Amino acid sequence: MTIPVLERIGELSALLDAKRAAGATVGLVPTMGALHPGHATLIARAAEECDVVCVTVFVNPLQFGPNEDFEAYPRDLDADVRTATDAGATMVFAPPVTEMYPGDQSTTVHVSGLTNVLDGLARPGHFDGVATVVAKLFAMAGRCHAYFGEKDFQQLAVVRRMAADLSFPVEIVGCPTARDHDEVALSSRNAYLNAEERAAAPVLIRALRAGAELLARGESDPARVRRAMVEIVAAEALATCDQAEVVDPRTLRTPDTLEGEVVLLVAARIGPARLIDNMRASTS
Ligand code: PAJ
Repeated sequence: MTIPVLERIGELSALLDAKRAAGATVGLVPTMGALHPGHATLIARAAEECDVVCVTVFVNPLQFGPNEDFEAYPRDLDADVRTATDAGATMVFAPPVTEMYPGDQSTTVHVSGLTNVLDGLARPGHFDGVATVVAKLFAMAGRCHAYFGEKDFQQLAVVRRMAADLSFPVEIVGCPTARDHDEVALSSRNAYLNAEERAAAPVLIRALRAGAELLARGESDPARVRRAMVEIVAAEALATCDQAEVVDPRTLRTPDTLEGEVVLLVAARIGPARLIDNMRASTS
């Protein structure tokens, strides 16, 4: 089966408008390509819940810092179209950079509050780039359900807030993290790891588990929970801990005392990759 691969914004908007006019519901799955089975779970969920599924493939220069991996980011559109088709997509939107950003872009979407913590500190400007490109995609797509992974917990929170604040007619659907056989979160950046580095990657989920176990045993001091996670990552020679946090899932801030539902987040550098993972947990 061949599905349409669109490059022009006008074509995308016209096709989705026509589908909606014929009574179809639209699912949107924004990605940067390098599609793996984690992305496929989002596409399959969208295909279950919507009549038409548009997967967008765009490596967004705005969300990469000057020393990040924009150039090196894996790109293989033919493979992405096959993966998207197999998972149930009905079209792919893969615009060139000049289509998304034809001239000077004077407008940036900035979501305050949720972006000056966690990865927002580690990657300055990153979430402005994400919020801006996702807002543009929502404007092009129109009324739809849009699917995002909980793996990028902060991104999901930022996108939810942006869509609500700007009144986009878009229902945001958060999807659980898809994991490999050893529970490492599937990520396009895992492709940067050699065999030895890949074998070290489960340290993130081990650190999250250790944090969750402490909470389950009644620990309410965030510093102790963080320390336990940092120690686990430090014990893995190939990993450097970038971030280990325990936060309120709504505010993304660390409360003075942990109570009820929280989310644990870890970021670690392993070889050339910066990997992130998170887990919801609650105090006993
Ligand atoms: P990308 O990293 O390609 O991810 C696209 C979507 O797939 C995101 O919503 C992400 O959370 C989700 N995803 C990635 N790995 C996953 C996994 N293992 N399980 C479940 N979902 C997973 O995130 C981006 O692209 C970009 O920032 C984007 C939102 C497209 C804006 O450019």
